[in-house]
Amino acid sequence: MTLLAILFWIHLIGMSVWVGASLLMPLVVGPALQGVEAPARMQSMAAISKRLTPIVFVSIVLVFASGIWQTVIRYGGFGIFMTPHPLTIKVWIAVLMFANGTYLGIFLPRRIAAAAPAPGTPPSPQFLKLQRSLAGHSWAQFVMAVVVLLLVGILTG
Ligand code: HEM
Repeated sequence: MTLLAILFWIHLIGMSVWVGASLLMPLVVGPALQGVEAPARMQSMAAISKRLTPIVFVSIVLVFASGIWQTVIRYGGFGIFMTPHPLTIKVWIAVLMFANGTYLGIFLPRRIAAAAPAPGTPPSPQFLKLQRSLAGHSWAQFVMAVVVLLLVGILTG
């Protein structure tokens, strides 16, 4: 039980950071920076992303490692993932969150930086499209985090 308690603790720390970031970015950071001039806004987002991305990746490793170990202890192996159990659905959404989060944290910022307008020039349609894509993927991450928490509620209910 001590091992399970420690795994649970690690799992909850990891998911608090990961889900926390997934909720905070579209709810607070994005809207708060809307009023800032485009060059300064991009610098701020780049600085936040540079700081947040490695922290979120460590938390994802903690969630998956502790989650897999918990699955072995609580369910005696991975057979449960062959069934439509809420845990299975949760894990698939967590995998989707990982893929979307990787695009949001690494690839999209690079594409936005490459399309950024030079000082004094208007933003290109491609740049505006990428900005909208950033908001879209952030809200997709938000919805997936909320659904995972709903599944956790079902799992523990
Ligand atoms: C964003 C992703 C995730 C979140 C937010 C999350 C959250 C949680 C929470 C809050 C609990 C505690 C529930 C309770 O009180 O029993 C839990 C339990 C658990 N999680 Fe996760 N988790 C995530 C991903 C994963 C992954 C990827 C795995 C497996 C690979 C996993 C496996 C488990 C297991 C086995 C338990 C124990 C559940 C049970 O006792 O039935 N979780 N998770």
